[in-house]
Amino acid sequence: NTVDWESEDTGKSGYEHFMLKEIHEQPQALRQCLQERVDELSGRVDLGDDIANAVRNAGSIQLVACGTSYHAALYAAELFRSQGVPAQAFVASEYVTSPPPHSEDTLVVGITQSGETADTLSALRDAQRRGVETLAVTNVVGSTAARECEGVLYIRSGPEIGVAATKTFSAQVVAVNLIAAVLGNGDTKHEFVSALRDLPGQVQQVLDETNAEAVARQFVDSDAFFFIGRGYDYPVALEGALKMKEISYEHAEGFAAGELKHGPLALVTGNTPVFAVVTGETGSEKTVGNVKEVEARNAPVVAVTDGRTDVERYADEVLEVPAADPRLGPVLANVQLQLVSYHVAKQLARSIDKPRNLAKSVTVE
Ligand code: G6P
Repeated sequence: NTVDWESEDTGKSGYEHFMLKEIHEQPQALRQCLQERVDELSGRVDLGDDIANAVRNAGSIQLVACGTSYHAALYAAELFRSQGVPAQAFVASEYVTSPPPHSEDTLVVGITQSGETADTLSALRDAQRRGVETLAVTNVVGSTAARECEGVLYIRSGPEIGVAATKTFSAQVVAVNLIAAVLGNGDTKHEFVSALRDLPGQVQQVLDETNAEAVARQFVDSDAFFFIGRGYDYPVALEGALKMKEISYEHAEGFAAGELKHGPLALVTGNTPVFAVVTGETGSEKTVGNVKEVEARNAPVVAVTDGRTDVERYADEVLEVPAADPRLGPVLANVQLQLVSYHVAKQLARSIDKPRNLAKSVTVE
């Protein structure tokens, strides 16, 4: 007897696609990212003196990244601002085209899974040429970004083979939370450290209990997919749409929930499901208001929510996530959206691990 297998399949550990395997590796990836960096007893986060000094001395932070990593950068900018540090995320190619002003104590943080994305490297080098200190948040040890930046924080996700980034996005979000903890004044650290430690288990719960496949089946024939969110849920709305585009080739857009009424609402019909990401407390009630506007246009609503609001009343379907720290709930919502995209793409028989026209890392500008 012979067994037919392609050499690639050997790494899939029984999963049909690398993407699905990597989605399921998220609890482990997050534990690795936290390992030996957080001490539950003292509530201390330790990223080493170099990173601690770089971030504590930063008067302002500019984040540069592309694709999925840019969504982690948008999230990080909001997180750092919540610590009182002026922070802004830039699409790396735009940063190079139109570099923002910096001061002596500006820190530029490049978020890049591969550490090889040409646009991001170019933005980091541009900053260095202007004398600005740089920090790489990357997955690949010894990558160009890791070697060239003054500081490096590894997200420790292990290899990601699927072109669409999944576990590395979640780990990037955890990694920037560790940076924020180092930045912060320490008041809430204890509580937050235990929230971080709970996160891998909560991701596992989402993976075990998800109804994403059924939701995907229900909406696979839609004209387009829209995603809305506000605050920390906004980058997740963008990421949900990007994942859907990348692997299903369906039209998908993410919007800040408040912006929907300023144009995109014209696109909303009975055949364009709107995925509303509603986690945490800040602004959630307003997003529920936006959901009502959508519902009034007869669009199907899928609420991705932790049950803190009554958004479920206006939703046709619900993708539930455990109630987590408001900064971490978006990670859980994103896992649900990864799974929806995966199952839509699978039902459409797309090339999930190697989508057309895309590369895992883009080394040209
Ligand atoms: C490519 C990939 C995306 C990725 C982006 C940034 O476009 O297809 O999935 O998000 O590059 O990659 P990086 O390695 O810099 O995070």
